[in-house]
Amino acid sequence: MHYFNFKKNNLYCEEFKVEDLAKQYGTPLYVYSSKTILEHFWKLEKAFEEINPLICYSVKANSNLSFLKLLTSQGSGLDIVSGGELYRAKKVKCPGNRIVYASVGKTDKEIEEALKYGILMFNVESVPELKRINNIAKRLNKKAAVALRVNPDVTPKTHKYITTGKKENKFGIDKDTAKDIFLKSKKYSNLRIIGIHIHIGSQITEGEPFVKAIQKIKTFIESLKKLGVKLEYLNIGGGLGIVYDNEIPQTAKEFADKILPLIKKISLKLILEPGRFIAGNAGILVSKVIYMKDTPQKKFIIVDAAMNDLARPSLYSAYHKIAALRKYKNKIKNGKKSDVVGSICESGDFLGKDRELEVKEGEYVAVFGAGAYGFSMSSNYNSRPRAAELLVKDKKTFLIRKRETYKDLVKEEIII
Ligand SMILES: Cc1ncc(COP(=O)(O)O)c(C=O)c1O
Repeated sequence: MHYFNFKKNNLYCEEFKVEDLAKQYGTPLYVYSSKTILEHFWKLEKAFEEINPLICYSVKANSNLSFLKLLTSQGSGLDIVSGGELYRAKKVKCPGNRIVYASVGKTDKEIEEALKYGILMFNVESVPELKRINNIAKRLNKKAAVALRVNPDVTPKTHKYITTGKKENKFGIDKDTAKDIFLKSKKYSNLRIIGIHIHIGSQITEGEPFVKAIQKIKTFIESLKKLGVKLEYLNIGGGLGIVYDNEIPQTAKEFADKILPLIKKISLKLILEPGRFIAGNAGILVSKVIYMKDTPQKKFIIVDAAMNDLARPSLYSAYHKIAALRKYKNKIKNGKKSDVVGSICESGDFLGKDRELEVKEGEYVAVFGAGAYGFSMSSNYNSRPRAAELLVKDKKTFLIRKRETYKDLVKEEIII
């Protein structure tokens, strides 16, 4: 079921005509469909129901508090990567035993806060970090549960910036070092090293790379078992791909069918960390056309959203579908393809290139697949206030983040 649909040539989000929302709340505007968010979460839950995994939504994908509350109220846990994300998790009262914490550079303060809140476990990425967590836990008189993030060394077909499970990536610990840690785990008196974590990358549309990684980890776990190492958890991270263009990504069920036979053989409690799969197609970025600029080479559709609002096209050359909120009955034939660009002083500031898009000045466009790594990666570059965020839920609209003001831009600054 899709909740962003054209009805009578107008784009709707659930029951709401998006153009009305754009007029009421202004642009650039992120619009999210709660039905889509929940459906994605439930699909994953259902696909894996026979083993009842802990699904920890990856906060970095979209960290709005209402977004998090919607998911945690359905039993989702959270995958966090910073003290700021822990703060958000606390704000929505996510129980500590449903929080896992990854990141290659956790600071003492962040570790201490997470231990005090009683998170389920840290996903540890290096030996120095392991020692640090042990020392802080000792000082606080606590036992910290940890999983070692092991690098399975697989190469998923995705953008090089979002592959994370290769040997040369900064993430994770190689298997030999991990084995050594497990065998000498007694020296970490305030740690319980009880799990293995992997995360091989993002926007992975096929099951094969996951199967390969899990197969490698299964062999590793078996070798550890023979050496007397007892584990409780296997965390396979996130990474499930979504539709941005014409991909046909695996469904939750297809994914589960592929990996469940292996997972069942490993027989550890499974943790999943989906981000994009839940949030990506649940949001659009709505923007108004400021100018249509025709040049001998190209047409430019200059809109009021820019790379500060949605960084993915500039950052990874990521493709996002873009459509006018109003479909024309008779296509206007004006020849050239258009680049949809923002007003930022960078040639890399574009939302889409070479699009056949029919739209006029003053009208609106929607950038699809913007629910994940959209707002959460946005910035104030060029002193642009960040966009508002709107959630459609229960036949109502909720402003879940106000548009920033110029005052917000400078509120922490000091003129000397
Ligand atoms: C450790 C970890 N888990 C989960 C995720 C979420 O990935 P995705 O949004 O592709 O599901 C990421 C993304 O970078 C990650 O680094």
